[in-house]
Amino acid sequence: MTRSAGRAPRVGIVGLGYMGLGTGLAFAARGLPVIGYDAKPEIRSAVARGVTPYHEKGLAALLRTQVRSGRFRVVDRLDDLVAGAEGIFLCVPTPPRPSGRIDLRPLRRATAEVARAIGAVTRYRLVVVKSTVVPGTTEAVVLPDVLRHSGRTPRTVSVASNPEFLAEGTMVHDALYPDRVVIGTLDHRAQEWLERAYRPFRAPVVSLTPSGAELVKYSANAFLALKVSFANEVARLADRLGVHVDRVMDAVGRDPRIGPRFLRAGPGFGGSCFEKDVSAFVARARELGVPLRTGAAALRANEEQMAYTLDFVRTVVGTLAGKRVALLGLAFKAGTDDVRESRAIPIAERLVAEGAEVRAHDPVAVEPFRRIWMAPGPRARGRLKLCSSLEETLTGADVAILQADWPDYLRWTRARSRRMRRPLLLDLRRALDPQAAERVGLTVIGLGAGGPVSPARIARARRAR
Ligand code: UDX
Repeated sequence: MTRSAGRAPRVGIVGLGYMGLGTGLAFAARGLPVIGYDAKPEIRSAVARGVTPYHEKGLAALLRTQVRSGRFRVVDRLDDLVAGAEGIFLCVPTPPRPSGRIDLRPLRRATAEVARAIGAVTRYRLVVVKSTVVPGTTEAVVLPDVLRHSGRTPRTVSVASNPEFLAEGTMVHDALYPDRVVIGTLDHRAQEWLERAYRPFRAPVVSLTPSGAELVKYSANAFLALKVSFANEVARLADRLGVHVDRVMDAVGRDPRIGPRFLRAGPGFGGSCFEKDVSAFVARARELGVPLRTGAAALRANEEQMAYTLDFVRTVVGTLAGKRVALLGLAFKAGTDDVRESRAIPIAERLVAEGAEVRAHDPVAVEPFRRIWMAPGPRARGRLKLCSSLEETLTGADVAILQADWPDYLRWTRARSRRMRRPLLLDLRRALDPQAAERVGLTVIGLGAGGPVSPARIARARRAR
């Protein structure tokens, strides 16, 4: 038994972004004392007051409860975190670089700061890499950095990899009830500490080396991305063959060897992980002399899905010049205010470039979208209006495009149809029931729902008012 075996493991979380906050709060909810720190003072002060800086289902309530209980507290100095927590989770971003590789600078900065603080305490400390890093990074980069900046030896400090599998929108649930906990360690002490920290979750633990754990994370994301890209390619075929893609994928997914999830075709995957992680995985595999053809194909098919989506819009709408288009859903998927790599961005860019007048709406992501849209760059900024009300977005529209399937959009009303000049909606996720929509005066045409789109349906939509 180690000296601290009787006490609950004390957790430190460095980086209170979506993932760090979700992870830290889950530990607190499972009864572990957690100390959080973020380099940004505004994030620290919001979280310390129990205010979540992100839109994430259940996060605000969990934060309030855990701050109030005293199990989750925020400190203004990293030294205080390192003094109070023996397992320190690095949850800082690893943003993509233009080459496809990840930028390790924020992680290395955080590692150096944490390691220096470790140098100032006497007890054992464990640095856990939760940030997504390519296989080999924890051992080849983080471990030497920790030893160098802390002045310790591997007898009194360890490093480990412990990737996360949290998806935005379901993060709180995913963090509280993990399917599996993946731990990559180099020594017993780190292994034992992590197993104790995760015991209250009662999830299966998979133990590997750090490189093994890192490989699990990338393989999982690459495989999920591949599933989505596959479904998207089948959707294009379904449109050619006059078949509904969801009926096909439903039957395909009933095979337990395949499974039903991540087979929903749409405008292509977005978000901060898939594109970035699969690109980095492909680049890392290439460095190791292994061409990762399936990963590269998932990315390629995703680009092509965007082109297909735009062709689909043009097929139905005809020329876009002078048309008023209502773009519904700006987040990369419903349930989040995250717009990183959202398909709404290239769709809006293309619509504007082709001369459409775009009105765009999202229940929570208008401001994050505005920040991206207005950022300096080659983006055509004119002719796009961000609206705070759905009514304003729809008024006088020649067509609506549903990019993210927020529940409110699915409760369509006749009043909404009447606001449009032509009550026609292109459903990139096939979320609306076309027959129910028809009853409230809206013609819905779904991507992958069995086109080619009949000219008669389009004509009917144009006549209907
Ligand atoms: C993903 C992984 O799911 C998560 O395990 C990992 O930790 C981070 O990356 P996230 O990016 O939050 O999570 O979203 P996810 O739900 O996986 O969706 C990613 C993209 O794929 C979204 O644009 C979504 O709309 C799209 N998608 C997903 C589909 O188009 N069809 C599907 O069937 C599933």
